[in-house]
Amino acid sequence: MKDKLIIFDTTMRDGEQSPGASMTRDEKVKIAQSLEKMRVDVIEAGFPVASPGDFESVQAVARVVTTSTVCALARTNDADIDRAAEALKPAVSSRIHTFIATSPIHMQKKLRMQPDEVVEHAVKAVRRARNYTDDVEFSPEDAGRSELDFLCRVIEAVIDAGATTVNIPDTVGYSVPGQFGDTIRQLMEKVPNADKAIFSVHCHNDLGMAVANSLSAVLNGARQVECTINGLGERAGNAALEEIVMAVRTRQDVFPCDTELDATEIMNCSRLVSNITGFPVQPNKAVVGANAFAHEAGIHQDGIIKSRDTYEIMRAQDVGLKTNRLVLGKHSGRNALRARLKEIGIKFDSDEALNETFKRFKELADKKHEIFDEDLQALVADSLHDPEVEQVKLIYMKVLSETGETPVADVTLLMDGQEKPGHAEGDGPVDAVFKAIETVVKSGSQLQLYSVNSITGGTDSQGEVTVRIDKDGRVINGRGADTDIVVASAKAYINAINKALSHVERAHPQV
Ligand code: KIV
Ligand code: ZN
Repeated sequence: MKDKLIIFDTTMRDGEQSPGASMTRDEKVKIAQSLEKMRVDVIEAGFPVASPGDFESVQAVARVVTTSTVCALARTNDADIDRAAEALKPAVSSRIHTFIATSPIHMQKKLRMQPDEVVEHAVKAVRRARNYTDDVEFSPEDAGRSELDFLCRVIEAVIDAGATTVNIPDTVGYSVPGQFGDTIRQLMEKVPNADKAIFSVHCHNDLGMAVANSLSAVLNGARQVECTINGLGERAGNAALEEIVMAVRTRQDVFPCDTELDATEIMNCSRLVSNITGFPVQPNKAVVGANAFAHEAGIHQDGIIKSRDTYEIMRAQDVGLKTNRLVLGKHSGRNALRARLKEIGIKFDSDEALNETFKRFKELADKKHEIFDEDLQALVADSLHDPEVEQVKLIYMKVLSETGETPVADVTLLMDGQEKPGHAEGDGPVDAVFKAIETVVKSGSQLQLYSVNSITGGTDSQGEVTVRIDKDGRVINGRGADTDIVVASAKAYINAINKALSHVERAHPQV
């Protein structure tokens, strides 16, 4: 029997710390359900003390998840721990994850605490958390730059106090695989009560080594990996869940453990997270990129036709892709659409929701010949937007763009129950539309990022636009898809404005 490798997903906590990736409560519930379906062991749903919105999200996730453990983050102070416990109350199985920094840099410059005080805080927090649950995780933040002897001291103390998981974070992505694996091995050898806790790792990707560092730790005894879908996370992100799971599964000749995950849910979950956050997955991304199972070169195609294993180390089906796609088009009916959506993991709560998607599917099918799974994901993502948040709606737009002339745009928006017209000139058609929208909504936000992706190949493909705006210091992402990229741009901008107007507040967890 091989050891079990526990998969701890932190997409909704550390992943949400990616600037612009904040998620609403209902979006978090959808992601949690997808993670649970994939049989993720522990779902870190948020940082309840950070904001009322984060508290409600953790509580909502705790209410719906029944088979995975739901975890909440807390600093070592009493208020954080109590708030985390309160949010987790409805959970069938709950974990409190408490952390305090242990590196000289953090202790001296950020916490302004002596090492003895840090140990005291850590122990006190673990004891308090144990009053609420038997499942308590402790993280010495910035462990990657902490002194080994001090780490041993803190870890021994928190295990004595009742920590059942000890997580070693490489908070700033500074470690390299050989050295990080060695640190894990030494900690497990030197800490006298190490056998009383599971050792876990949490690696950031600043130098592109988060997955390599995590796997090196696993080879040296770690039995929990903290990771995120699509590698989302603070700065350069965290170790990508899909890469960890598929590396361990594909190289069972190397790893002394395995996960219990249903990897065939990976693609669905990856697309859901990408749609909700507006962070596109790069085409050449390992495991979940659009090209991860595509073969272009003639020699490769020839090899694949003769025997798949010549150029493929995993099967597309193993991560939830179909090699042959069902082509949906304008002659397809509602049942064909429903069946295909079900196959790719999308179910509707009501016939009305399906009818609405079917209507937009028909409109799209009139504009393009083949509707691929990616098109369907984009269509459904549009209906995922929380209706309560839709205070502004695009009713009509017209853009004139001519060589030698300044582009002009007219829009009609539905706002406060009234149709309101807007008109503006711009440096280009997209600029003109954004300015015309601004003449109506007057949000005063600054555009920080604008990107266009084609969802499928060909000139009739849908364009998916992501915009990032800064409104009074809040960074917000918006997404829109359409066969016309100027319309997609307007939808994305309005989506961001709606999120900005919804006042979903969220403090940065580590401020
Ligand atoms: O990166 C980090 O150190 C963290 C901790 C809270 C575990 O996210
Ligand atoms: Zn982190």
